[in-house]
This record gives sequence, C-alpha cells and structure tokens, in this order.
Amino acid sequence: MPSITAAAPGKIILFGEHAVVYGRPAIAIPVTQVQARATVSPNPRASPGAVRIQAPAIGLDTNLEALSESHPLAVVVNLVVATLGISHLPACTIRVTSTIPVAAGLGSGAAVSVALARALSAFLGRPLPDDKVSAIAYEAEKIHHGSPSGIDNTVITYARPVYFVKGYPIEMIGVKQSFTLVIGDTGIASPTKVAVADVRQGWIANPSYFESLFDAITQVTQAARQAIEEGRIKDLGPLMDTNHELLIRLGVSCSELDHLVQAARSAGALGAKLSGGGRGGNMIALCHSGDAMKVSKALKAAGATRIIITEVREAITQNLERPRP
Ligand code: PMV
Repeated sequence: MPSITAAAPGKIILFGEHAVVYGRPAIAIPVTQVQARATVSPNPRASPGAVRIQAPAIGLDTNLEALSESHPLAVVVNLVVATLGISHLPACTIRVTSTIPVAAGLGSGAAVSVALARALSAFLGRPLPDDKVSAIAYEAEKIHHGSPSGIDNTVITYARPVYFVKGYPIEMIGVKQSFTLVIGDTGIASPTKVAVADVRQGWIANPSYFESLFDAITQVTQAARQAIEEGRIKDLGPLMDTNHELLIRLGVSCSELDHLVQAARSAGALGAKLSGGGRGGNMIALCHSGDAMKVSKALKAAGATRIIITEVREAITQNLERPRP
C-alpha cells in the first residue's frame, strides 16, 4: 500500500455570506495559493488497526482512539470508513498540514476535511466521488460552525467558482473574463460560529429587518453572478461595496475590516468587502491586475497582516494534488 497525498484549496466568499445560512444564494471561489494537505502512509510496524493522527500545526500527534469522537478529524476518518463500509482500518499514519490561516474565513477546516477524506479513501483503494467527499466535509463543518450553509465544503471540494443555495444542486459559475482579487487579513482570529450565532440572535429579535437585508444581499449576489458570466468585471466593484454596507448593517463587520476596505478603495480598488464570517478575518478587494501591487501595499500600510493576490478563472484545479480514481 503506497502513501497517498491529497490537497484541497482555501476559499473566499465573493458575495452572499451570512444570507446564505438563510437560504439565499452566495458565490464562493477557491483560492489555491493556500492549501491543506493530507498524507496517509502505511505503518507496517504498528499493531493491526493502529491509526496515528498527526497535525503539527495544532500540536496533535495521537492515536485515533484517543481523539474524541466529535473531533473534526475523527469525524472525517469515521465517516470515510462508514461510507466505504470498511470494518477496520489498516495500521497507518495520517498527517495533516495546511498553509490556510485558521479562523480567517478562508475555509481551513473544510479544506483539511476534504484533503483527508480524499487521501484516506484513495489509500483504502476506493477514492470517494466529489459528492461524498463534500458530504463528509459538511459533517465536520457542523463542529466548526454550528449550522453551516455548506458553501465551504462545496467550493473547496469542487475547486471551482460556485453559486450556492443551501439544499439545491450546486451551480458552477462560468467566468467569462478572469479578474484579480487582493485578499487582506486583519490578523484578528474570529470564529465564524460566533458571528453566525449573533446574526441568528438579531434575526430572532427583528426578523423583518434581517430578512430585508438578506433580500438586498440576494439582489446583489444575483447581479454579481450575471456580471461574472457576462464578463462585466467593473460592475462587480460597486456590488462588492453594496454587499459590504449590508454586512455592516448585519453587524458582522468591525473597524479593522472597514479600515482595510477603505484603504483598498482609496488605492484604486474597483470595490471591496469583508469576506466570510466577519468581525475579523479577511477582506477582499477587486482590482485591475496592474493595480494589485498598489492595493496590496496600501493594505499592508493600513495594517493587513497577510496579503494573497489571486486571479479568478473558470477552473483552477490543475495545480491541486489529487489521487486518481
Ligand atoms: O468560513 P467563513 O468564515 O468564510 O464563513 C462562512 C460563511 C457564512 O455564511 C458566514 C457561514 C456559512 O455557513 O455559510
């Protein structure tokens, strides 16, 4: 049994975060500059069935049975085993690494789950299809996020721009003209679960106001999809600005995000918004490719702790390591 490695990209939400939890559409894109990787290797010296799990970034080096059953890594391993109908695992070592910042809205948890489900199922000789991989990652997302919409596991599994509505078949978005995004990190770790729970509280207290915000976000997201599919990139900028304003009203922005968004716009970005759960984490700015360095510099000067420049194209799966079925 050879070692098997699989990688999965990070992601950002381009439009529609939070509203997507309430059945509205959202657009997400993969970000391959950062990746999670899982390697499963045989461990012939270990006793039969012994599974070692290593995740150096979180100081984890333990046997599978010592992990709580609700640990996201254990959930993924156990679901792969259950989905394949396997009675026991061969002795092996699972090593998980990631360059995706944690709790920053870049999908680190889902990417680890997707990479692990792919590597483990391939190691067992039965690589799982994308829909099964995504469903397993969704279960692990519930532990990270509480009541996730499912957008993270979907965009990361398929590694293509997606238009996502919870409970509906996934729609891939055709990107007629590629465009450049600068992703700026506030450096503030902000668990999505908390922001999602706060929006829930607001919605319970004032449902008609929150529903009206979700409806407005829906209009922006639908218009953005059309603009992407028709190659009207400059129209996306004002739509991002509007989405950011609506997210402020939802209560999920913060002064650091607003500051970075403003800095990007002042440096010539066509539009900018927070991305993901908010309250910290990342913001994104749309710019002409020639302006990406200028916008990056302005974001750094305004306090961004990490910058990723990414080009959004139709399919960006080529540079991802994937075990072949
Ligand atoms: O993982 P994040 O921080 O990008 O957040 C996901 C987006 C939310 O809409 C806030 C939550 C969800 O489950 O869709």
